[in-house]
Amino acid sequence: MLHFSRRQRLCLAIVAVFLIGVGYRWLPRKTDPNLQTRTDSEPAGLPFDLESETDHGYVGWAVCSECHRGRVEEFQETRHFHALKLPDQVKFPGGFEPGRNSFTPPGSPVRFDMAIAPAPVITAVPLADSTAPAVVSPVEFIYGAGAGTDEVYFTRKGDQLFEMPIAWLHHQEQWGAVQFDSNGSGDLSRPLAPQCLECHSVWVDYIPGTHNQYGPLEPELLSVTCERCHGPANEHVTHHRLHPGETVAAHILQPNTLSRDRKTDLCAQCHTNTVRHRSAPFSYRPGKPLEESFRILAMHFPEEDRVANQTRYLKESRCFQNSDTLTCITCHDPHRKPDRNDPGASNQSCRSCHQPEHCGAQTRLPDAVQGQCVNCHMPQRNKVQVNFETADGDIVFPAPRWEHRIGIYPEAEQETLWKWYGKQSDDASKQYQLQLAEALSVHWTHVADEARKSRRYVVAIDAYCTALRFGESEELRTHLAEVLEQKRQSKSMTSQGMKLKRQRRLDEAIGTFEALLKLHPEFATAEFELGTLYAATGRLDEAVNMLTLASRHDSNDPGATAMLGWLEFLADRPAEALIYYRRAAEIEPWSDHLEQMIAQCLVRSGSWEDAAQAYHRSLTIDPQNVESARGLRQILRERFSAADALPQAIQAIKVTQGRQIELLIALAEIYRDLGQLAEARQSIAFTRQVAESCHSELLPQVLTLERNLTPAK
Ligand code: HEC
Ligand code: HEC
Ligand code: HEC
Ligand code: HEC
Ligand code: HEC
Ligand code: HEC
Ligand code: HEC
Repeated sequence: MLHFSRRQRLCLAIVAVFLIGVGYRWLPRKTDPNLQTRTDSEPAGLPFDLESETDHGYVGWAVCSECHRGRVEEFQETRHFHALKLPDQVKFPGGFEPGRNSFTPPGSPVRFDMAIAPAPVITAVPLADSTAPAVVSPVEFIYGAGAGTDEVYFTRKGDQLFEMPIAWLHHQEQWGAVQFDSNGSGDLSRPLAPQCLECHSVWVDYIPGTHNQYGPLEPELLSVTCERCHGPANEHVTHHRLHPGETVAAHILQPNTLSRDRKTDLCAQCHTNTVRHRSAPFSYRPGKPLEESFRILAMHFPEEDRVANQTRYLKESRCFQNSDTLTCITCHDPHRKPDRNDPGASNQSCRSCHQPEHCGAQTRLPDAVQGQCVNCHMPQRNKVQVNFETADGDIVFPAPRWEHRIGIYPEAEQETLWKWYGKQSDDASKQYQLQLAEALSVHWTHVADEARKSRRYVVAIDAYCTALRFGESEELRTHLAEVLEQKRQSKSMTSQGMKLKRQRRLDEAIGTFEALLKLHPEFATAEFELGTLYAATGRLDEAVNMLTLASRHDSNDPGATAMLGWLEFLADRPAEALIYYRRAAEIEPWSDHLEQMIAQCLVRSGSWEDAAQAYHRSLTIDPQNVESARGLRQILRERFSAADALPQAIQAIKVTQGRQIELLIALAEIYRDLGQLAEARQSIAFTRQVAESCHSELLPQVLTLERNLTPAK
């Protein structure tokens, strides 16, 4: 996959001249003075408008206070309002204060030093090589600020955004490391995918097809605010400003009018695994079926969830299944901060459907416990998919979440009672509390042992730690240490294998991954790597077996399936390859690369129409995919009549905003073949400007074509 560098994109600003006023997408910065002055030079245009998408239509939450002041004020207290904060909007935590502002994660090649003044930065100082420069990463924005759980920091390099690999853990009052590449360099940050911002803001100017390129942030569209649930409000605001007397709302979504499914989707936008796009990032609008925009991942185990996923688990509970009305907003007011001072508040929501006497446990419970419905039926649990490693190697989980699969959890009853009897002073209570502790310890040890057997290491770590809360035991400590060691070993072997692979020491890499699989059978990552390595060393049968296993053991990862397609493609079996690639594209529906490969298989099988469609889709996903532009040019010229090719070329040029030179050349050729010489000349003149401004290696081709099209004097 090819991406334009910043410089290339700037040189392509020439194209943007034609887009001014039409749309936001490629219009990098409305105020870019370059664009303004270039208008004067009047470069040649194309024979048609490069119209792009219309304005996103968001106005930002501050505008709402003009007419909904109270609503906006109370909303500012909610966690949604604070989901993404800029450095000047927060108080930095203790980890930025002298004495605590340094952290070296275990196994890390760098030490992190934090500072607030003169500007908040995180500096990565190399440990081994003291001559290597330190990397200073200014804090661009923060997640989790003020939540009292964990805070994550982000940085910007040019137009690229990155997530820093460390987080401040409020409960532990210490720094924790997020999974990082121990072979990495610099500040070990990882590119920030659009999904991450999609769940923590209303809209961000994401540059399509890139990993992590974004325009400047618009502060009033950051965090989860009004328009994320009510849709873009530009028209609504314009209408009501023009008609101040009108009391009936126009052009705005009132979620109460939605069906139950769409209401649930409103929250599921972010409270479920919406990390695989079916349509462009930031294109979902509330009120529409979420499945049209996302392939929502259903994970095999809860610890594989990308978020706490209240949506999925609520839907699995009988409360949801046997009622027609229950949605998130039955229990949560989206505009107000929950009342933490009233411990009974969250239990009230149950009483709208249940009489306490329907609870079979009530009669055996002490009076004071009877009302704690939530503690027993939605117990708090660690969501272990996110975990941090502290300086002393402990694995720490973020603040626990309330289980939304409302149900009957005997161990939760025991724990609720354990807490209550622990507060009583009489001997009988103390005695009973000990029995409860014993039972809880047995329960969690069993959970841990089972998890360990199936190598669900983080689940086992969490369960052993929980068991230890109910009583110290030498044996449990040993077990915990063993699992921590197993997890560490698995991680370090994976990283070692990757390193060997990068160094092209393929046989050693194979040895490492084979050993890892002995230790950790059915580990899909290792199977995938091994399959790829077998293929690279010519052991094709073994490769196919291994990749097949990998695709089975992680049915949400398209990698192994795509690799099987690639092997078929290399063996010149396009029909078989196509089956694999289509399967991979079902797993990952928004991949320009998979669509490009589908197109190539179709070309080899002679299905030109379908191939063209797949190329179009590839270019829609990543307008900068040069391979797809080249492929499309080739079939348009060779397999379509000029008349049929013209609309296709125009469509593709619009999708790619006139930035793909291959397509522009194809257009000129098609006009020429149709005898529309004026259009052909106009197109090639435009093409030359683009090719010159970005020093394209296709310039000679363009010049030749232009010469051929110029009438002899
Ligand atoms: C110029 C005034 C004005 C502005 C600015 C404004 N609204 Fe409204 N809005 C109204 C009026 C008037 C109504 C109808 C009366 C009511 O429900 O309060 C309304 C109603 C609504 C409703 C209820 C819809 C319904 O069908 O009952 C929602 C939701 C809403 N606005 C959202 C927003 C959001 C979000 C913003 C900011 C992005 C916003 N409004 C900005 C005037 C405005
Ligand atoms: C699919 C949506 C989604 C994605 C993607 C997502 N988040 Fe979140 N994030 C949430 C939700 C929802 C919460 C609220 C917590 C909950 O549900 O319990 C949250 C909470 C958080 C918090 C608050 C801390 C806490 O423990 O409460 C942090 C920090 C955070 N996310 C970081 C990230 C980072 C970093 C990324 C990207 C690398 C990311 N999130 C991607 C939905 C998402
Ligand atoms: C997390 C989603 C969410 C966010 C964010 C959100 N709303 Fe709402 N809003 C809803 C839902 C759901 C309803 C319908 C249920 C209800 O009436 O409480 C609603 C109803 C409304 C209504 C009509 C009912 C009423 O009480 O007047 C208005 C007006 C409104 N919202 C304005 C806003 C404004 C302004 C903001 C930002 C300050 C905002 N909303 C933020 C989900 C949201
Ligand atoms: C655009 C993404 C997004 C949407 C849509 C969204 N949420 Fe959230 N929600 C988040 C994030 C992110 C957080 C965590 C913010 C933080 O703590 O930093 C969160 C936090 C919460 C919390 C925890 C609040 C607290 O005080 O602890 C609740 C409850 C919640 N959301 C419910 C809902 C409901 C109900 C809806 C639908 C009406 C909804 N959310 C829609 C992203 C979203
Ligand atoms: C909108 C109505 C509604 C609300 C609100 C509601 N429930 Fe339910 N709940 C139901 C229905 C309906 C059933 C199924 C009853 C049946 O099948 O007999 C149910 C079943 C249950 C069960 C039995 C679960 C099982 O797996 O056997 C428990 C426990 C329960 N609810 C607890 C709660 C608690 C605690 C709350 C509050 C946090 C709550 N419910 C909120 C409607 C609701
Ligand atoms: C200390 C724990 C505890 C508390 C507090 C508690 N429950 Fe229960 N509840 C249970 C257990 C355990 C069961 C399973 C039945 C049994 O063991 O007799 C149950 C059963 C239920 C059922 C399912 C009945 C059926 O047979 O389908 C409902 C509904 C229910 N509880 C609702 C509530 C509500 C509402 C509250 C709060 C007013 C509440 N519970 C408080 C532990 C608790
Ligand atoms: C039957 C009531 C009920 C329903 C329905 C419900 N929740 Fe909750 N939720 C709770 C309770 C109770 C808590 C914990 C205490 C509190 O925050 O009030 C909670 C906590 C949360 C939190 C805070 C994170 C945490 O676990 O600490 C989020 C986020 C959340 N809910 C999201 C949702 C979403 C999204 C939906 C819909 C898919 C939903 N909830 C449906 C009752 C409910």
